[in-house]
Amino acid sequence: MSTLVTGATGMVGRRVLTELTRRGLPATGASRSSQTRLDWTDTSNWDDVLKGVSSIFVVTPVGSALGNRVAGFLEKAADAGVGRAVVMSAMGTEHAPSDSDQRAAELRAKDLFHTWTVLRPNWLFQDFTEGTFASLARSRNGRLELPVKRRTEVSFVDARDVADTAVAALLGGHGGREYTLTGPQALTFREVVKRTKGTESPVWRFKTVDEAGFYFRATNRGWGERYIDTLNERFAAAVSGRAAEVTEGVRAALNRDPIPLARFMRESVL
Ligand SMILES: NC(=O)c1ccc[n+]([C@@H]2O[C@H](COP(=O)([O-])OP(=O)(O)OC[C@H]3O[C@@H](n4cnc5c(N)ncnc54)[C@H](OP(=O)(O)O)[C@@H]3O)[C@@H](O)[C@H]2O)c1
Repeated sequence: MSTLVTGATGMVGRRVLTELTRRGLPATGASRSSQTRLDWTDTSNWDDVLKGVSSIFVVTPVGSALGNRVAGFLEKAADAGVGRAVVMSAMGTEHAPSDSDQRAAELRAKDLFHTWTVLRPNWLFQDFTEGTFASLARSRNGRLELPVKRRTEVSFVDARDVADTAVAALLGGHGGREYTLTGPQALTFREVVKRTKGTESPVWRFKTVDEAGFYFRATNRGWGERYIDTLNERFAAAVSGRAAEVTEGVRAALNRDPIPLARFMRESVL
């Protein structure tokens, strides 16, 4: 029996798959561009994808109206005998409406699986090097322009801490637990960007913009309206101070401290 890792090309999924494989555990990575193809919008091969799977790591893409599709996949997975689900959403998802994409996936997993764990990470450090922020800055000559305030703080978390927590949960012992995962301190965007100066980071300057300005830049990147709206909601939450909380999630799950910015900078590929 093996683990199915969805979102396997993403910042956390890739690390979950790598760690399971490094430990010699049977695991398959799945996404639209993975060798095992899984598209939330195409149910045609879901039965095949779920053959021999005993546990799943579930990543619902942001702002793509795929909540129902993911919920449908979870139903199929439970019918196929999958007993354990580890669902990754995002910090604060417990307060989202029950029909929102990520909250729906959390609730469905709790209903369907014998053993479930929910992970709610804050923004990732890796957003600056691999994710949304890197992509935005690349199109603006290294300048990251976001609709936040100069003083807005976020307790960024390292994707490796999230992946390690997912692996621990997939291996057992964290059933029925919900972890909000943050780094060890709240930082402003400027504080993080200051540290990337002089490195090969795609982000090396920072500027605050208003929501309309962000919308303009994001549509220029070709991003869909719903995705941009979701990002704007998350930035608004950060501006109101809701992304600054430092939690004990990583320590509670892994019995060690979360990775700080200095170590992320030292060990990232920059
Ligand atoms: N980034 C953050 O800071 C952060 C923080 C907290 C929580 N999260 C959560 O992490 C999740 C991923 O967020 P992200 O945008 O940052 O992720 P990401 O690292 O870009 O990963 C997204 C993954 O989803 C897959 N995917 C996208 N559309 C798909 C589809 N139609 N069918 C199947 N797979 C699909 C992608 O692979 P393919 O393109 O190969 O299909 C990729 O592996 C979200 O649930 C988000 O709420 C992210």
